[in-house]
Amino acid sequence: MYLFILATLLAQTLGLTVLGAVSDINAVNNVAASTLPFPSHQLFQFGQLGTWIENVAARSNGDLLFTLLQPTPQLYILTAVQSDSPQATLLYTFPDMTGLLGITEIAPDVFVVAGGKFHGIADPIFGTFSLWQVSFADSHMPCKINCSPDNKQPSFKKLLDLPDHVYPNGLTSVPGKLGVILVADSTGSLLRVDVNSNQVDTVAAVPEMVPVPGWPFLMGINGVKIYDGYVYWTNSFAATMYRMAIDEDGFPVPTSDSSSDAGTTTNAAAAAATFTSKVEASINSTKVTVETVVFMPITFMDDFAISDDGTLWITTNPNNTVVSYNQDTGKNAVVAGDQTQEVMAGVNAAVFGRTATDSHILYVVTAGGLNSPVNGTFVEPAKVMAIDTSNAAADGF
Ligand SMILES: *[C@@H]1O[C@H](CO)[C@@H](O)[C@H](O)[C@H]1NC(C)=O
Ligand SMILES: *[C@@H]1O[C@H](CO)[C@@H](O)[C@H](O)[C@H]1NC(C)=O
Ligand SMILES: *[C@@H]1O[C@H](CO)[C@@H](O)[C@H](O)[C@H]1NC(C)=O
Repeated sequence: MYLFILATLLAQTLGLTVLGAVSDINAVNNVAASTLPFPSHQLFQFGQLGTWIENVAARSNGDLLFTLLQPTPQLYILTAVQSDSPQATLLYTFPDMTGLLGITEIAPDVFVVAGGKFHGIADPIFGTFSLWQVSFADSHMPCKINCSPDNKQPSFKKLLDLPDHVYPNGLTSVPGKLGVILVADSTGSLLRVDVNSNQVDTVAAVPEMVPVPGWPFLMGINGVKIYDGYVYWTNSFAATMYRMAIDEDGFPVPTSDSSSDAGTTTNAAAAAATFTSKVEASINSTKVTVETVVFMPITFMDDFAISDDGTLWITTNPNNTVVSYNQDTGKNAVVAGDQTQEVMAGVNAAVFGRTATDSHILYVVTAGGLNSPVNGTFVEPAKVMAIDTSNAAADGF
Protein backbone atom coordinates (compact mmCIF):
# COMPACT_ATOMS: atom_id res chain seq x y z
CA MET A 1 0.00 0.00 0.00
CA TYR A 2 2.84 2.35 0.87
CA LEU A 3 4.36 1.83 -2.55
CA PHE A 4 1.02 2.41 -4.20
CA ILE A 5 0.59 5.73 -2.38
CA LEU A 6 4.12 6.67 -3.35
CA ALA A 7 3.40 5.93 -7.00
CA THR A 8 0.23 7.99 -6.85
CA LEU A 9 2.04 10.96 -5.38
CA LEU A 10 4.82 10.73 -7.91
CA ALA A 11 2.40 10.39 -10.80
CA GLN A 12 0.57 13.44 -9.55
CA THR A 13 3.85 15.32 -9.29
CA LEU A 14 4.67 14.39 -12.86
CA GLY A 15 1.14 15.37 -13.79
CA LEU A 16 1.78 18.95 -12.78
CA THR A 17 4.01 19.41 -15.77
CA VAL A 18 1.61 18.14 -18.36
CA LEU A 19 -1.27 19.47 -20.35
CA GLY A 20 -4.34 17.85 -21.75
CA ALA A 21 -7.49 16.07 -20.79
CA VAL A 22 -6.09 14.37 -17.73
CA SER A 23 -8.20 11.46 -16.70
CA ASP A 24 -7.57 10.30 -13.18
CA ILE A 25 -9.37 7.05 -12.58
CA ASN A 26 -9.97 6.27 -8.93
CA ALA A 27 -11.13 2.74 -9.43
CA VAL A 28 -10.63 0.72 -12.57
CA ASN A 29 -14.07 -0.52 -13.67
CA ASN A 30 -16.75 2.08 -14.18
CA VAL A 31 -18.64 -0.10 -16.63
CA ALA A 32 -21.58 -1.93 -15.11
CA ALA A 33 -21.42 -4.94 -17.36
CA SER A 34 -22.70 -8.41 -16.80
CA THR A 35 -20.32 -9.62 -19.48
CA LEU A 36 -17.14 -8.95 -17.48
CA PRO A 37 -14.69 -10.50 -17.41
CA PHE A 38 -14.62 -11.19 -21.13
CA PRO A 39 -14.28 -14.85 -22.13
CA SER A 40 -10.68 -15.96 -22.46
CA HIS A 41 -8.90 -19.19 -23.18
CA GLN A 42 -5.38 -20.50 -23.23
CA LEU A 43 -3.68 -21.10 -26.58
CA PHE A 44 -0.30 -22.28 -25.39
CA GLN A 45 1.73 -22.66 -22.22
CA PHE A 46 5.38 -23.64 -21.81
CA GLY A 47 6.02 -26.81 -19.84
CA GLN A 48 8.79 -25.25 -17.82
CA LEU A 49 8.83 -22.77 -14.91
CA GLY A 50 11.10 -19.77 -15.30
CA THR A 51 9.76 -18.81 -18.72
CA TRP A 52 8.85 -15.19 -19.46
CA ILE A 53 7.18 -14.28 -22.76
CA GLU A 54 7.84 -10.58 -23.30
CA ASN A 55 6.08 -9.48 -26.46
CA VAL A 56 3.80 -10.60 -29.27
CA ALA A 57 3.06 -9.65 -32.87
CA ALA A 58 0.35 -10.90 -35.23
CA ARG A 59 1.13 -11.90 -38.80
CA SER A 60 -1.35 -11.03 -41.53
CA ASN A 61 -1.91 -14.78 -42.12
CA GLY A 62 -3.13 -15.25 -38.53
CA ASP A 63 0.04 -16.67 -36.94
CA LEU A 64 1.44 -15.08 -33.79
CA LEU A 65 5.13 -14.40 -33.14
CA PHE A 66 6.27 -14.14 -29.55
CA THR A 67 9.58 -13.22 -27.94
CA LEU A 68 11.08 -14.85 -24.88
CA LEU A 69 12.88 -12.73 -22.30
CA GLN A 70 13.73 -15.64 -19.99
CA PRO A 71 15.39 -18.06 -19.83
CA THR A 72 16.65 -17.82 -23.43
CA PRO A 73 16.57 -15.19 -26.21
CA GLN A 74 14.19 -17.08 -28.48
CA LEU A 75 11.52 -16.25 -31.02
CA TYR A 76 8.54 -18.61 -31.36
CA ILE A 77 5.72 -18.88 -33.86
CA LEU A 78 2.20 -19.95 -32.90
CA THR A 79 0.30 -21.46 -35.82
CA ALA A 80 -3.28 -22.76 -36.14
CA VAL A 81 -4.09 -20.03 -33.62
CA GLN A 82 -7.86 -20.23 -34.14
CA SER A 83 -8.00 -24.03 -34.02
CA ASP A 84 -8.48 -26.23 -30.95
CA SER A 85 -4.80 -27.12 -30.95
CA PRO A 86 -2.50 -24.18 -31.69
CA GLN A 87 1.09 -25.22 -32.31
CA ALA A 88 4.12 -23.36 -30.92
CA THR A 89 7.43 -23.82 -32.72
CA LEU A 90 10.85 -22.38 -31.95
CA LEU A 91 12.05 -20.26 -34.87
CA TYR A 92 15.40 -19.00 -33.69
CA THR A 93 17.73 -18.58 -30.71
CA PHE A 94 19.51 -15.23 -31.03
CA PRO A 95 23.30 -15.17 -30.46
CA ASP A 96 25.11 -12.98 -27.91
CA MET A 97 22.01 -12.13 -25.90
CA THR A 98 20.21 -13.31 -22.81
CA GLY A 99 16.71 -12.07 -23.66
CA LEU A 100 14.41 -10.59 -26.28
CA LEU A 101 12.13 -7.57 -25.85
CA GLY A 102 9.84 -5.82 -28.36
CA ILE A 103 8.75 -6.85 -31.84
CA THR A 104 7.13 -4.84 -34.64
CA GLU A 105 6.29 -5.39 -38.31
CA ILE A 106 8.21 -2.93 -40.54
CA ALA A 107 7.00 -4.12 -43.95
CA PRO A 108 4.56 -6.84 -45.00
CA ASP A 109 5.70 -9.98 -43.12
CA VAL A 110 9.04 -8.42 -42.13
CA PHE A 111 9.57 -7.88 -38.41
CA VAL A 112 12.15 -6.20 -36.20
CA VAL A 113 13.04 -7.66 -32.81
CA ALA A 114 15.10 -6.05 -30.03
CA GLY A 115 17.26 -8.00 -27.62
CA GLY A 116 20.39 -7.88 -25.51
CA LYS A 117 22.07 -9.00 -22.32
CA PHE A 118 20.73 -8.71 -18.79
CA HIS A 119 22.33 -9.19 -15.37
CA GLY A 120 18.89 -10.17 -14.06
CA ILE A 121 15.20 -9.22 -14.33
CA ALA A 122 14.88 -5.70 -15.75
CA ASP A 123 18.61 -5.17 -15.22
CA PRO A 124 19.99 -4.57 -18.73
CA ILE A 125 23.70 -4.42 -19.54
CA PHE A 126 24.45 -1.08 -21.15
CA GLY A 127 25.32 -1.15 -24.84
CA THR A 128 24.64 -4.85 -25.44
CA PHE A 129 21.38 -4.37 -27.36
CA SER A 130 20.74 -4.81 -31.05
CA LEU A 131 17.89 -4.84 -33.52
CA TRP A 132 17.35 -7.86 -35.75
CA GLN A 133 15.22 -8.44 -38.81
CA VAL A 134 13.00 -11.50 -39.11
CA SER A 135 11.66 -11.78 -42.64
CA PHE A 136 9.05 -14.15 -43.98
CA ALA A 137 8.95 -12.14 -47.21
CA ASP A 138 12.38 -12.61 -48.76
CA SER A 139 13.24 -16.04 -47.54
CA HIS A 140 15.25 -18.43 -49.64
CA MET A 141 15.79 -20.83 -46.79
CA PRO A 142 14.43 -24.35 -46.98
CA CYS A 143 11.06 -24.59 -45.30
CA LYS A 144 11.05 -26.39 -41.96
CA ILE A 145 7.93 -25.15 -40.18
CA ASN A 146 4.34 -25.79 -41.24
CA CYS A 147 5.39 -25.54 -44.85
CA SER A 148 3.00 -24.21 -47.43
CA PRO A 149 3.42 -21.75 -50.29
CA ASP A 150 2.50 -18.82 -48.05
CA ASN A 151 4.24 -20.03 -44.91
CA LYS A 152 7.97 -19.99 -45.43
CA GLN A 153 10.85 -20.34 -43.03
CA PRO A 154 11.93 -16.81 -42.14
CA SER A 155 15.40 -15.40 -42.56
CA PHE A 156 17.21 -13.71 -39.67
CA LYS A 157 19.81 -10.97 -39.79
CA LYS A 158 21.21 -8.39 -37.43
CA LEU A 159 20.35 -4.86 -38.55
CA LEU A 160 22.30 -2.74 -36.11
CA ASP A 161 23.82 -2.52 -32.67
CA LEU A 162 22.64 0.12 -30.20
CA PRO A 163 25.92 0.72 -28.36
CA ASP A 164 24.84 4.07 -26.90
CA HIS A 165 21.52 2.96 -25.50
CA VAL A 166 20.55 1.25 -22.31
CA TYR A 167 17.20 -0.46 -22.54
CA PRO A 168 15.42 -0.62 -25.93
CA ASN A 169 12.12 -2.20 -24.91
CA GLY A 170 8.84 -1.50 -26.74
CA LEU A 171 8.96 -1.04 -30.53
CA THR A 172 6.37 0.31 -32.94
CA SER A 173 6.35 1.04 -36.67
CA VAL A 174 5.63 4.46 -38.12
CA PRO A 175 2.62 3.97 -40.43
CA GLY A 176 3.44 4.32 -44.11
CA LYS A 177 7.20 4.60 -43.56
CA LEU A 178 8.75 1.25 -44.34
CA GLY A 179 11.56 0.47 -41.94
CA VAL A 180 11.04 3.45 -39.63
CA ILE A 181 10.33 2.53 -36.02
CA LEU A 182 10.03 4.23 -32.66
CA VAL A 183 11.81 2.52 -29.79
CA ALA A 184 11.11 3.06 -26.09
CA ASP A 185 14.34 3.19 -24.11
CA SER A 186 12.97 2.37 -20.68
CA THR A 187 15.61 4.50 -18.98
CA GLY A 188 13.81 7.59 -20.24
CA SER A 189 13.85 8.36 -23.94
CA LEU A 190 12.22 7.67 -27.27
CA LEU A 191 14.38 6.72 -30.24
CA ARG A 192 13.55 6.88 -33.91
CA VAL A 193 15.37 4.26 -35.93
CA ASP A 194 15.40 4.09 -39.71
CA VAL A 195 16.64 0.60 -40.50
CA ASN A 196 17.09 1.52 -44.17
CA SER A 197 20.00 3.79 -43.26
CA ASN A 198 20.66 2.56 -39.69
CA GLN A 199 20.09 6.15 -38.54
CA VAL A 200 19.29 6.33 -34.79
CA ASP A 201 17.95 9.59 -33.31
CA THR A 202 16.85 10.27 -29.78
CA VAL A 203 13.72 12.26 -30.63
CA ALA A 204 12.31 12.84 -27.14
CA ALA A 205 13.45 12.55 -23.56
CA VAL A 206 10.89 14.12 -21.28
CA PRO A 207 10.21 13.61 -17.57
CA GLU A 208 7.13 11.54 -18.43
CA MET A 209 9.45 8.90 -19.90
CA VAL A 210 11.84 8.71 -16.95
CA PRO A 211 11.59 5.85 -14.42
CA VAL A 212 9.75 6.78 -11.24
CA PRO A 213 12.39 6.64 -8.50
CA GLY A 214 11.96 4.40 -5.50
CA TRP A 215 11.08 1.23 -7.36
CA PRO A 216 13.43 -1.73 -7.66
CA PHE A 217 13.50 -1.56 -11.45
CA LEU A 218 14.64 1.14 -13.80
CA MET A 219 11.48 1.08 -15.87
CA GLY A 220 9.99 4.27 -17.29
CA ILE A 221 8.64 4.39 -20.84
CA ASN A 222 7.81 0.81 -21.74
CA GLY A 223 5.04 0.04 -24.24
CA VAL A 224 4.82 2.36 -27.25
CA LYS A 225 2.16 2.50 -30.00
CA ILE A 226 1.09 4.99 -32.67
CA TYR A 227 -2.55 5.96 -33.20
CA ASP A 228 -4.09 8.81 -35.19
CA GLY A 229 -1.04 11.08 -35.28
CA TYR A 230 0.12 10.48 -31.72
CA VAL A 231 2.68 8.23 -30.12
CA TYR A 232 1.26 6.73 -26.92
CA TRP A 233 3.44 5.28 -24.19
CA THR A 234 3.13 3.78 -20.74
CA ASN A 235 5.39 4.93 -17.94
CA SER A 236 5.18 1.69 -16.04
CA PHE A 237 5.55 2.64 -12.36
CA ALA A 238 3.75 5.95 -12.88
CA ALA A 239 0.80 3.72 -13.94
CA THR A 240 0.13 6.40 -16.53
CA MET A 241 -0.44 6.51 -20.27
CA TYR A 242 0.92 9.59 -22.06
CA ARG A 243 0.88 10.74 -25.66
CA MET A 244 2.53 13.32 -27.89
CA ALA A 245 1.86 14.38 -31.48
CA ILE A 246 4.23 13.07 -34.16
CA ASP A 247 4.60 14.01 -37.80
CA GLU A 248 4.29 11.55 -40.68
CA ASP A 249 8.00 10.73 -40.46
CA GLY A 250 7.68 9.78 -36.81
CA PHE A 251 9.35 12.88 -35.34
CA PRO A 252 7.64 14.62 -32.43
CA VAL A 253 5.77 17.75 -33.52
CA PRO A 254 7.47 20.69 -31.84
CA THR A 255 5.28 22.77 -29.53
CA SER A 256 4.03 25.78 -31.49
CA ASP A 257 4.74 29.24 -30.11
CA SER A 258 1.03 30.03 -29.97
CA SER A 259 0.22 27.24 -27.55
CA SER A 260 0.46 27.85 -23.84
CA ASP A 261 3.89 27.04 -22.50
CA ALA A 262 2.23 25.72 -19.35
CA GLY A 263 1.98 22.43 -21.12
CA THR A 264 5.41 22.10 -22.54
CA THR A 265 8.21 20.09 -21.13
CA THR A 266 11.77 20.54 -22.22
CA ASN A 267 14.51 18.05 -22.47
CA ALA A 268 16.50 20.12 -20.02
CA ALA A 269 13.97 18.95 -17.46
CA ALA A 270 14.74 15.38 -18.34
CA ALA A 271 18.41 16.04 -17.76
CA ALA A 272 17.52 17.01 -14.21
CA ALA A 273 15.78 13.70 -13.66
CA THR A 274 17.31 11.07 -11.47
CA PHE A 275 18.65 8.80 -14.15
CA THR A 276 21.48 9.94 -16.37
CA SER A 277 23.20 8.10 -19.13
CA LYS A 278 25.15 8.65 -22.30
CA VAL A 279 21.84 9.08 -24.09
CA GLU A 280 21.60 12.68 -23.00
CA ALA A 281 24.46 13.74 -25.19
CA SER A 282 22.38 13.18 -28.29
CA ILE A 283 19.01 14.40 -27.04
CA ASN A 284 17.10 16.51 -29.53
CA SER A 285 16.27 19.67 -27.64
CA THR A 286 13.02 20.44 -29.47
CA LYS A 287 10.19 21.36 -27.10
CA VAL A 288 7.29 18.94 -27.21
CA THR A 289 3.86 18.87 -25.62
CA VAL A 290 3.06 15.80 -23.55
CA GLU A 291 -0.53 14.95 -22.67
CA THR A 292 -1.59 12.62 -19.89
CA VAL A 293 -4.12 10.19 -21.33
CA VAL A 294 -5.00 8.22 -18.21
CA PHE A 295 -3.66 7.39 -14.77
CA MET A 296 -4.92 4.21 -13.13
CA PRO A 297 -4.80 3.07 -9.49
CA ILE A 298 -2.59 0.10 -10.18
CA THR A 299 1.08 -0.53 -9.57
CA PHE A 300 2.25 -1.03 -13.12
CA MET A 301 1.26 -0.40 -16.73
CA ASP A 302 3.06 -2.65 -19.18
CA ASP A 303 2.61 -2.95 -22.95
CA PHE A 304 -0.76 -2.36 -24.64
CA ALA A 305 -2.80 -2.49 -27.84
CA ILE A 306 -5.02 0.20 -29.36
CA SER A 307 -8.18 -0.85 -31.22
CA ASP A 308 -9.56 0.95 -34.27
CA ASP A 309 -11.80 3.24 -32.20
CA GLY A 310 -8.86 4.34 -30.05
CA THR A 311 -9.69 2.20 -27.01
CA LEU A 312 -6.57 1.31 -25.05
CA TRP A 313 -6.10 -2.30 -23.87
CA ILE A 314 -3.41 -2.24 -21.21
CA THR A 315 -1.64 -5.16 -19.55
CA THR A 316 -0.67 -4.70 -15.90
CA ASN A 317 1.91 -7.47 -15.27
CA PRO A 318 2.15 -7.62 -11.41
CA ASN A 319 -1.54 -6.71 -11.18
CA ASN A 320 -2.48 -9.76 -13.27
CA THR A 321 -5.17 -7.96 -15.27
CA VAL A 322 -5.94 -6.51 -18.67
CA VAL A 323 -7.72 -3.15 -18.41
CA SER A 324 -9.47 -1.16 -21.10
CA TYR A 325 -9.87 2.59 -21.40
CA ASN A 326 -12.12 4.24 -23.96
CA GLN A 327 -10.58 7.61 -24.80
CA ASP A 328 -13.88 9.09 -26.03
CA THR A 329 -16.15 8.11 -23.15
CA GLY A 330 -13.64 7.64 -20.34
CA LYS A 331 -15.17 4.25 -19.62
CA ASN A 332 -12.76 1.69 -18.28
CA ALA A 333 -12.91 -1.88 -17.09
CA VAL A 334 -10.90 -4.84 -15.95
CA VAL A 335 -11.67 -7.04 -18.93
CA ALA A 336 -9.62 -10.07 -17.92
CA GLY A 337 -7.78 -11.41 -14.89
CA ASP A 338 -7.76 -10.56 -11.23
CA GLN A 339 -5.04 -9.61 -8.76
CA THR A 340 -5.40 -12.94 -6.93
CA GLN A 341 -6.03 -15.23 -9.90
CA GLU A 342 -3.59 -17.01 -12.18
CA VAL A 343 -5.58 -16.55 -15.39
CA MET A 344 -3.58 -13.44 -16.41
CA ALA A 345 -0.56 -13.97 -14.15
CA GLY A 346 2.12 -11.48 -15.17
CA VAL A 347 0.32 -10.47 -18.38
CA ASN A 348 2.62 -8.06 -20.19
CA ALA A 349 1.83 -7.48 -23.89
CA ALA A 350 -1.19 -7.54 -26.19
CA VAL A 351 -2.06 -7.52 -29.88
CA PHE A 352 -5.31 -7.80 -31.82
CA GLY A 353 -5.74 -10.50 -34.44
CA ARG A 354 -5.45 -9.34 -38.05
CA THR A 355 -7.71 -11.75 -39.93
CA ALA A 356 -11.43 -11.32 -40.61
CA THR A 357 -12.23 -14.03 -38.07
CA ASP A 358 -10.05 -12.84 -35.16
CA SER A 359 -9.89 -9.05 -35.35
CA HIS A 360 -11.97 -8.93 -32.13
CA ILE A 361 -9.58 -11.27 -30.31
CA LEU A 362 -6.98 -9.66 -28.07
CA TYR A 363 -4.01 -11.99 -27.82
CA VAL A 364 -1.95 -11.52 -24.67
CA VAL A 365 1.25 -13.07 -23.37
CA THR A 366 2.42 -13.60 -19.80
CA ALA A 367 5.45 -13.93 -17.58
CA GLY A 368 3.59 -16.40 -15.33
CA GLY A 369 4.00 -14.16 -12.28
CA LEU A 370 7.74 -14.80 -12.40
CA ASN A 371 8.69 -11.42 -11.01
CA SER A 372 5.64 -10.90 -8.84
CA PRO A 373 4.01 -14.21 -7.83
CA VAL A 374 0.21 -14.26 -7.51
CA ASN A 375 -0.66 -14.02 -3.78
CA GLY A 376 3.09 -13.80 -3.20
CA THR A 377 3.62 -17.48 -3.93
CA PHE A 378 2.07 -18.72 -7.17
CA VAL A 379 4.25 -18.89 -10.28
CA GLU A 380 3.50 -20.76 -13.51
CA PRO A 381 5.13 -21.16 -16.93
CA ALA A 382 4.56 -18.33 -19.42
CA LYS A 383 1.54 -18.63 -21.70
CA VAL A 384 -0.39 -17.13 -24.61
CA MET A 385 -4.07 -16.32 -24.00
CA ALA A 386 -6.92 -15.17 -26.26
CA ILE A 387 -9.48 -12.67 -24.92
CA ASP A 388 -12.75 -12.26 -26.83
CA THR A 389 -13.60 -8.54 -26.82
CA SER A 390 -16.87 -8.90 -28.81
CA ASN A 391 -18.86 -7.66 -25.82
CA ALA A 392 -17.06 -4.32 -25.70
CA ALA A 393 -19.56 -2.78 -28.11
CA ALA A 394 -22.56 -4.37 -26.37
CA ASP A 395 -21.37 -2.97 -23.06
CA GLY A 396 -21.04 0.48 -24.52
CA PHE A 397 -17.30 0.96 -24.21
C1 LIG B 1 14.75 17.03 -33.81
O1 LIG B 1 13.33 16.89 -33.88
C2 LIG B 1 12.74 17.55 -34.98
C3 LIG B 1 11.23 17.35 -34.89
O2 LIG B 1 10.80 17.28 -33.59
C4 LIG B 1 13.28 16.98 -36.29
O3 LIG B 1 12.73 17.66 -37.37
C5 LIG B 1 14.80 17.08 -36.30
O4 LIG B 1 15.29 16.43 -37.45
C6 LIG B 1 15.39 16.43 -35.06
N1 LIG B 1 16.84 16.62 -35.03
C7 LIG B 1 17.70 15.62 -34.76
C8 LIG B 1 19.14 15.98 -34.77
O5 LIG B 1 17.34 14.51 -34.50
C1 LIG C 1 -0.78 -4.38 -7.96
O1 LIG C 1 0.23 -5.38 -7.75
C2 LIG C 1 1.09 -5.11 -6.68
C3 LIG C 1 2.18 -6.18 -6.68
O2 LIG C 1 1.62 -7.46 -6.67
C4 LIG C 1 0.32 -5.06 -5.38
O3 LIG C 1 1.17 -4.74 -4.30
C5 LIG C 1 -0.77 -3.98 -5.50
O4 LIG C 1 -1.59 -3.99 -4.35
C6 LIG C 1 -1.65 -4.20 -6.72
N1 LIG C 1 -2.52 -3.07 -6.88
C7 LIG C 1 -3.81 -3.19 -7.19
C8 LIG C 1 -4.60 -1.93 -7.27
O5 LIG C 1 -4.33 -4.24 -7.42
C1 LIG D 1 -4.98 -16.29 -4.09
O1 LIG D 1 -5.74 -16.17 -2.91
C2 LIG D 1 -7.14 -16.10 -3.13
C3 LIG D 1 -7.79 -15.80 -1.79
O2 LIG D 1 -7.43 -16.77 -0.86
C4 LIG D 1 -7.62 -17.38 -3.77
O3 LIG D 1 -9.00 -17.32 -4.04
C5 LIG D 1 -6.86 -17.61 -5.06
O4 LIG D 1 -7.23 -18.84 -5.64
C6 LIG D 1 -5.38 -17.55 -4.84
N1 LIG D 1 -4.72 -17.57 -6.14
C7 LIG D 1 -3.83 -18.49 -6.51
C8 LIG D 1 -3.26 -18.37 -7.88
O5 LIG D 1 -3.49 -19.41 -5.76
